[in-house]
Amino acid sequence: MRKQIVAGNWKMNKTFSEAEILITEIADALDEADLKNAEVVLCPPALYLEMTTDVAFESNFKVGAQNIYPEDSGAFTGEISPLMLKELNVSYCIVGHSERRKYFNESHEFLKRKVDSLLKNNISPIFCCGEVLPEREANRHFDVVKNQLEESLFHLPEEEFMKIVVAYEPVWAIGTGVTASKEQAQEMHSFIRGLISSKYDTTTADETTILYGGSCNGKNAAELFSQPDVDGGLIGGASLKAEEFLQIATSF
Ligand code: 13P
Repeated sequence: MRKQIVAGNWKMNKTFSEAEILITEIADALDEADLKNAEVVLCPPALYLEMTTDVAFESNFKVGAQNIYPEDSGAFTGEISPLMLKELNVSYCIVGHSERRKYFNESHEFLKRKVDSLLKNNISPIFCCGEVLPEREANRHFDVVKNQLEESLFHLPEEEFMKIVVAYEPVWAIGTGVTASKEQAQEMHSFIRGLISSKYDTTTADETTILYGGSCNGKNAAELFSQPDVDGGLIGGASLKAEEFLQIATSF
């Protein structure tokens, strides 16, 4: 049975003291929560990872980073390596978020290197894919997502691919308040699972967790998560409020 995950991507939000409060609120709420089999992941800014892993050690959630540079060490001023994260017990790292593709011009090839360097350090990539609005309007969304997976993930041998979490995040739904309908999400998730099945096999496809991201909130999470191929969510804005995030995490 594949994992169900609700991951909070805080992006570049919260000061240190605000982050401390939010992490504590979430950890306290998780003590009481009925998560069924779902796993909760917090992806705070890098500066707060150590504090977050400290709390996670005593609590019921895992920690993810938002980014890495794909080398273990070296002259890369300002960057953080997967080897550093490994020692902090960081379990996941977001790769290929549309904001990084857009604002930092991250290419398929660069994302592929990030995936490889994370796996080498035993950190699971949460690999984001998704189309922009004109691509959907031109009915190119399936081709776009297929290309993103082929170029940055499908070089992996099966045993490595099994450690990947895929997140479908239609760019037009991110931070806009416009959520994909449950039918649109299911259609794309089922397409992605089909691609994995063709490239690897049905067992690998069945075991791969595929998250939905893009204006997912306390009101629409249950409907989205009820779809057969939607295994949880990658949550932006709504992960910054403990109560709403917990509502999402208990929406299975
Ligand atoms: P929002 O939930 O704010 O739309 O952001 C989604 C996202 O980008 C998560 O990575």
